[in-house]
Amino acid sequence: MFHRQILWIVATFLLRISEQRRISACRRCMCFIEPAIIPPSKPYIFSPQHVDPDLCSHIFLSNVGLDGNKINIASWHADKRLAKLSEHLKDLKLKKPKLKTLLTVGGVFPVSALFSKMAATGAGRKEFINSLIPFVREQGFDGVDLDWLYPKLHGGGPADKETYVDLIKEMATEFENESSSRGLKKLMLSVWVPRSSGGIDSGYNVTEFARYVDMINIMSFVYNGFMNSPIGHASPLDSSDGQNIKQTLRDWEDRGMPRPKMNIGIAAFGYRLSTKSSSDIKIGESIVIGTALTSNSRGQGFLTYYQVCLLLKQGGSVTGAPLLTPHII
Ligand SMILES: *[C@@H]1O[C@H](CO)[C@@H](O)[C@H](O)[C@H]1NC(C)=O
Ligand SMILES: *[C@@H]1O[C@H](CO)[C@@H](O)[C@H](O)[C@H]1NC(C)=O
Repeated sequence: MFHRQILWIVATFLLRISEQRRISACRRCMCFIEPAIIPPSKPYIFSPQHVDPDLCSHIFLSNVGLDGNKINIASWHADKRLAKLSEHLKDLKLKKPKLKTLLTVGGVFPVSALFSKMAATGAGRKEFINSLIPFVREQGFDGVDLDWLYPKLHGGGPADKETYVDLIKEMATEFENESSSRGLKKLMLSVWVPRSSGGIDSGYNVTEFARYVDMINIMSFVYNGFMNSPIGHASPLDSSDGQNIKQTLRDWEDRGMPRPKMNIGIAAFGYRLSTKSSSDIKIGESIVIGTALTSNSRGQGFLTYYQVCLLLKQGGSVTGAPLLTPHII
């Protein structure tokens, strides 16, 4: 049987924008560095030194977890790469003083359960915030990016929806107090949030927490793309099935999130998928299987950005047809 492979490369959008230097028109362009998924060997080594500061207005460094109610400073220091990256970020800020850096706190399971436990009591929240502010200042970040995915899920509890608001409110209040009492610029506060309306309604009282955050980072990617699902774009701006970024932004706005606080996420990764034949490469067609590339811990078929670049180097041809969105065949 003839299998045809296709690869979604949403990443090309980002490349094109940077090539044309149109990025200067972008008011807020958030760049995320997640050292845990970057291979530590050449030629894939990536550090803030490699970041084009004209491309990003904000850089997020991921991440520091929790140790009980406090942030896990010991694991941060044990991870030499994180410490080094944070030093590089400071250098980058010297080159571009307008650049803002934020420390991402949290991550996926089991951190979600720890967040739920910590936020459940006023004493737990206080302990968290008191451990957080001095560390973020000491490391030279301009703000905190809370990555609690998601209230009530992944080992969370039924009270999370309320305690989430308490936590955000108390963080904002303490950031304000710290700023005015020390005469420093207030730390920024951003949070990661889901894209589905069901996810929003289950975990978030939007009108309540919206007023305390500076911005939200919407996980508006992976609308499609997993193995065994029909072919579809990872981050469609629009579509006929309502599963797209436009609808997600409407869902957040309808529930009270002000537009200027919303950041959308666009995938810079790809999926490598196979269909039965080349004539099957169309939206909605079923996928046979995702095929793995080497050096990837994220699962079969998943491609990180450097792997997308490798495929392009090896002669992958980029086409928009027949899917009206860039992909490699
Ligand atoms: C306000 O901030 C100062 C300095 O960071 C701190 O000593 C004080 O405990 C804070 N006040 C409250 C009510 O948290
Ligand atoms: C949000 O919280 C407020 C104040 O506690 C409450 O009146 C409102 O019903 C809540 N809304 C949602 C959608 O949970």
